[in-house]
Amino acid sequence: MYLNVPTNEAYKLLNAGPVIILSTSDMEEHLNLTPISWHSPVDFDPVTKILLVTDIKNKAFFNILETGKFVICIPHATQVKLVKDLGSCSGFKENKLEKFQVEYALSEKCQFAVPNGTIAYIECKKLRVIEEDAVAIIIGEVIFAKAIKGSYRDRLISEKEAGKTLHHLGKDIFFQPGDLVE
Ligand SMILES: Cc1cc2nc3c(=O)[nH]c(=O)nc-3n(C[C@H](O)[C@H](O)[C@H](O)COP(=O)(O)O)c2cc1C
Repeated sequence: MYLNVPTNEAYKLLNAGPVIILSTSDMEEHLNLTPISWHSPVDFDPVTKILLVTDIKNKAFFNILETGKFVICIPHATQVKLVKDLGSCSGFKENKLEKFQVEYALSEKCQFAVPNGTIAYIECKKLRVIEEDAVAIIIGEVIFAKAIKGSYRDRLISEKEAGKTLHHLGKDIFFQPGDLVE
């Protein structure tokens, strides 16, 4: 027995990948952080390619067009407040790193902000942008990636505390991954 799911909510049935914090900068080196739920790997050989879906009004989108670079930070489940804060306003209007007193280090290649405590980060260069009404699909190629000790060994160790990513179910509802299925 199946219930109808409204067509404008169907995405919620798929939307269980980890929330990422998209770290970007404009040409004046104003760093910015933007939570994004809609993303996917698109290839891995010879290097990983990733797509992101972003509103064209986002400062993150503007920054990626300007610099051609972005860093995907993977927050830990305990960073849910930071994710909500960063999603509550735009880098066009405020310096979110100062406003929310974000402690961060700089990523190795791009020198963009990586909030302390994030599980991993993936540095990318922009390959392609496809605009679709009010949103854009950005495809990037990975140039460098790092994961915190204990969170990754051939795969994300999501059954252990260090690998507990944050997942968004819509509105104010989030979860973290549970145990492995044998
Ligand atoms: C959990 C969460 C997931 C989000 N996912 C997306 C997304 O996939 N794409 C998008 O364009 N905005 C998404 N947003 C909204 C942006 O983060 C929000 O509009 C933000 O203020 C844009 O910031 P910016 O203008 O500084 O880039 C999400 C927000 C939250 C809290």
